[in-house]
Amino acid sequence: MKDSKAYYDHLATSYNTESDNRKNYLTAVDKYIAKSVNNIRVYNFLDIGAGNGNRSIEIANSISVEKEIVLIDSSSKMLENASKLENVKAHNTSVFDFNTSTKFDLITCLWNVLGHFNTKEERIQLFKKISTLLAPKGVFIFDVNNRYNINHYGLHNVEQNLKNDTLNIKDAGWFTLGEKTNQTRVYMHSPFDINTYIDQTDLSVEEIKYIDYTTGETKPTFFEGQLVYKITKL
Ligand SMILES: C[S@@+](CC[C@H](N)C(=O)[O-])C[C@H]1O[C@@H](n2cnc3c(N)ncnc32)[C@H](O)[C@@H]1O
Repeated sequence: MKDSKAYYDHLATSYNTESDNRKNYLTAVDKYIAKSVNNIRVYNFLDIGAGNGNRSIEIANSISVEKEIVLIDSSSKMLENASKLENVKAHNTSVFDFNTSTKFDLITCLWNVLGHFNTKEERIQLFKKISTLLAPKGVFIFDVNNRYNINHYGLHNVEQNLKNDTLNIKDAGWFTLGEKTNQTRVYMHSPFDINTYIDQTDLSVEEIKYIDYTTGETKPTFFEGQLVYKITKL
């Protein structure tokens, strides 16, 4: 089993095919981001776990970022092309080693990046770090794969996940991602996990969307989609 960095270094050349297969979902999230910040001026935009940066650049263009576009990713291969772009500052580092006095009006962490943090403590530290990086009135948007998403993972699997959670089974929420030659562990969230991170910070949930992983449609309940959060500072 590889760590996330080795897994994404390996996947980098075929990453666009992966994201094309999820186009409806990813586009729906990107549109939601653009809509969510249409009433604020975005001077600085930070994308954590930006991958190859293609989505970050599209989002930045759709919201007209006025000053800095900053990308962070732990995989050097994923970030390779984005590093060459003139109007972008790309950092191949852990978010915990990223230090700056810049405050960001928009921070994103998209497509289950959060599921690659190894422990709950690390995820809480990430939320605390994001709180220090957000500008006053800034917005943080992230999405995670949802282990209670019946539409996508099926009733049987979700029943099993609910049972594991109820019985407090060790490692509930951890799954294997990828094909045999390239695999990593990934954490799939439940809708209740996120509050346990937020509660440790001065962040607050402004809106939660449930978005169908195949069609990109907004759904009424968390049993029908992946989880997209709009977060602001208290
Ligand atoms: C599924 S990809 C998503 C990429 C991009 N956000 C997108 O939507 O196309 C997850 C990305 O998170 C990055 N990643 C995983 N753990 C990370 C960490 N601790 N810090 C920074 N990046 C991380 C991976 O290298 C990978 O590029």
